[in-house]
Amino acid sequence: MNATPTTAPVRHHRTLTPSILYFGTPVVLLTTENPDGTANLAPVSSAWALGRTVVLGLGVDGRTAHNLADRPDLVVNLPSPDLWEAVERLAPLTGADPVPPAKRPVYRYEPDKFAAAGLTPQASVRVGPPRVAQCPLQLEARVRQRTPSADGSFWTVEAEVLHVHADPDITVPGTQHVDPGAWSPLVYNFRHYHGLGPELGHGFRSETAARRAG
Ligand SMILES: Cc1cc2nc3c(=O)[nH]c(=O)nc-3n(C[C@H](O)[C@H](O)[C@H](O)COP(=O)(O)O)c2cc1C
Repeated sequence: MNATPTTAPVRHHRTLTPSILYFGTPVVLLTTENPDGTANLAPVSSAWALGRTVVLGLGVDGRTAHNLADRPDLVVNLPSPDLWEAVERLAPLTGADPVPPAKRPVYRYEPDKFAAAGLTPQASVRVGPPRVAQCPLQLEARVRQRTPSADGSFWTVEAEVLHVHADPDITVPGTQHVDPGAWSPLVYNFRHYHGLGPELGHGFRSETAARRAG
């Protein structure tokens, strides 16, 4: 029998004009191939997945967007919350040389972002750019579609995931499941870094909860 749901308190709102709308999405580290064959590495929080496709929002000025226009291979590396300082070390860097005028006040050119961040490249299996060895989840992928935004400031990039690598510590042994109790993304929440809090519950289609119960 279904219990009658209790109604949560309604909220009273004020009108707000925030400078940013980064309401809390996971950070990914994208590796792409530079024109000279070296690897670029960039933090991106406009990332989500549906089926085997990862969708990314990439500023038109960045080295990453240019690389993917010419060389479609990439790795979507998912850092855990403890890696936030390495992510933040990448924050003021660009692989674009010269630095585009709009980025000049804030960013500087860095050809070796792995070294600058203290991260380790690891050879990929299906694509050219390397993985980030410290990231527990790594998605090797290839761009299938690029769509310009209405205002021309970014590209929406759709990439097909070709190969998934997971640290066994975040998987359910003997299955193909990521363990939601062991994995936490690094969340970018209005320019602050967070991990997940304790689990609140699970969706009715969870496959790992059914295993846990039975
Ligand atoms: C946590 C975080 C999230 C970011 N999210 C995005 C994003 O979603 N899209 C984007 O284009 N840039 C994003 N940036 C900014 C890029 O990382 C930045 O423009 C960088 O210079 C890109 O490097 P590249 O020019 O070598 O590609 C983010 C930066 C940080 C630190």
